[in-house]
Amino acid sequence: MSTKQNKIIIAIDGYSSCGKSTFAKAIAARLGYIFIDTGAMYRAVTLYALEHGAIRSGIVDEDEVVRLLKEIQITFRFNPERGASDIYVNGDRVEGKIRTIEVSNCVSAVSAIAEVREMLVKMQQEMGRRKGVVMDGRDIGTVVFPDAELKIFMTADPKVRAQRRYDELTAKGDKVSLEEIEQNVRDRDYQDMHRAISPLRQAEDAIVLDNSQMTVEEQMTWVMERIAALN
Ligand code: DC
Repeated sequence: MSTKQNKIIIAIDGYSSCGKSTFAKAIAARLGYIFIDTGAMYRAVTLYALEHGAIRSGIVDEDEVVRLLKEIQITFRFNPERGASDIYVNGDRVEGKIRTIEVSNCVSAVSAIAEVREMLVKMQQEMGRRKGVVMDGRDIGTVVFPDAELKIFMTADPKVRAQRRYDELTAKGDKVSLEEIEQNVRDRDYQDMHRAISPLRQAEDAIVLDNSQMTVEEQMTWVMERIAALN
């Protein structure tokens, strides 16, 4: 794609552990765009809630989470080693702490809170104001940027997704079982699709990408063809 082309917004939505972030990051690197992982923002709020007593024994105290929102400042800073931005909460880098199973188990409940979504959606819209962004999440093509020039809805077999997440966590040294991960993937699919506010759904004008059997390179070829076709 020519870099002279007008910058666009690429919205990537879909199920958890589909490789959305890996894909979005690769597209952003290819186009010289900014990559924004909105799931990291919901995870950062969840981590903060866990660390400040708003979630106890897996039970989320919604009023307490809303109260805490006033003291949460989320920022991103580019990390050249990762080739992506790290997320910070009140100046602390939390990138390494937001992908634990504990956060994963509570994040759907936290992301179902209206005030949480309101705050984060506003931030996301502001970050995409000048276009040239690839944003991944659950409601990017439907709520955050309903006018995005390219919308992709990603899906993959839940077993394939669980295996990918398992490999990722065990490579980091986390002790987890494949069954536990698969259950978490299925539970989050259900919760993300059935919450009252901004449930996960495919935008009418989104193109579906099922990457169960695709390599990242094959996905890149697929998306570059679609971007070229926009012009
Ligand atoms: O993409 P992820 O698995 O890191 O996202 C974590 C959770 O955050 C996911 O279970 C649903 C929620 N989420 C959301 O509700 N809206 C978004 N735009 C992104 C994530």
